[in-house]
Amino acid sequence: MSVISGKKIILGVTGGIAAYKSCELIRSLVKEGASVQVIMTQNAMEFVTPLTLQTLSGNRVATKTFDLGWESEIGHISLADSADLVVVAPATASFIGKIASGIADTLLTNVILATLSPVILCPAMNVNMYKNQIVQENLERLGNRGFIIVEPSEGSLACGWEGKGRLPEIPDIVHEIEKTLSPKDYRGERVLVTAGATREFIDSVRFISNPSSGKMGYSLAKEGLMRGAEVVLVTGKTNLAPPCGAKVIDVVSAGDMYESVMEYLDWSTIVIKAAAVGDYTPSEKINGKIKKDENSRILNLKRTKDILKAVGEKKNGRMVVGFAAETDDLIEHAKDKLKRKNADLFIANDVSLPGAGFETETNIVHFVYRDGKTEELPRAAKSEIARKIFDKILELKTSSARL
Ligand SMILES: Cc1cc2nc3c(=O)[nH]c(=O)nc-3n(C[C@H](O)[C@H](O)[C@H](O)COP(=O)(O)O)c2cc1C
Repeated sequence: MSVISGKKIILGVTGGIAAYKSCELIRSLVKEGASVQVIMTQNAMEFVTPLTLQTLSGNRVATKTFDLGWESEIGHISLADSADLVVVAPATASFIGKIASGIADTLLTNVILATLSPVILCPAMNVNMYKNQIVQENLERLGNRGFIIVEPSEGSLACGWEGKGRLPEIPDIVHEIEKTLSPKDYRGERVLVTAGATREFIDSVRFISNPSSGKMGYSLAKEGLMRGAEVVLVTGKTNLAPPCGAKVIDVVSAGDMYESVMEYLDWSTIVIKAAAVGDYTPSEKINGKIKKDENSRILNLKRTKDILKAVGEKKNGRMVVGFAAETDDLIEHAKDKLKRKNADLFIANDVSLPGAGFETETNIVHFVYRDGKTEELPRAAKSEIARKIFDKILELKTSSARL
């Protein structure tokens, strides 16, 4: 279950060309289980109809401060009080200016000034409008007052200009909402996460690898960020967008991953090794492409360095979490690895099961503890499993601090 689930989110839509993108934002939030209450400015209704947003959100769209149709006598106060979070996407230059000056002449500006909930603003406008010193000063002022500003992205703008001013991608806005609503119980922690598959090159164009998509590791990095941790993500090649706010170190081989992990080990307070690292690498790498002039070829392999073992040997009080992807004797292998690698927690998953392991959106895992106890988690989205792993690490940290 997402942290958004069950939350009441007020979505303010103002009169910018990106107003049509609010439709997709509503769908994403509703899909995550939020109750979305849309407030539109009069000018926003020039771009998208209240009927569309009402249909998508399943709630009546609010547009007027003086609306006798609202059940409560003072609609803007009850709206402001009811919200867990307010997000304005898109936020026009004019709207930003009004809020920065304390002007409350619309329902949306009234709600924003009256609410005690966090407010996220997603500015979107022409690049020169965005660069304008007045707009920049207004944004700075609002940032200093505790408003969360999601910077616009760069690219081609609807007005024909190129540059900064596009509404951030919807998943980035959703990520910011999740981050804002998440408990900040990892503040002060420095989490080193590894993700994805490594590649061991045989010649210049061929390599040995595995089907790991990196989804589990990226979900872990995202969870850490949402809960207030600093995150370094050491990642093999994936097709995933890097989580906003993480320091991302791209690596290719198991050897590269070893070097990067060792570089950040002293910095970290928690290490989570979710990468699928190659155990063997060719004894020699051929420069150029091997020609097919022989009927058979023997490929000699040597062991790669065991990253988790090296981390366990230099543990120094940090929490170490490993993953065991197995196809047989899952729990026994995971218990054995946990001991040999001096880890605190192992996440064992049988990659041969449907809905588990490589390339899937979901996973079925067992937690394996130092005292030999195990716990099976039902099949769940990798983001959900990431949340449970972070909950468990905190629990283990607290109980070991008590000993
Ligand atoms: C076609 C068109 C597109 C516009 N797009 C934007 C925009 O992307 N960002 C912006 O800040 N203003 C934009 N404006 C200007 C706003 O609509 C104008 O400042 C308006 O007063 C904003 O009202 P509101 O903030 O109360 O919704 C646009 C205007 C027009 C006519």
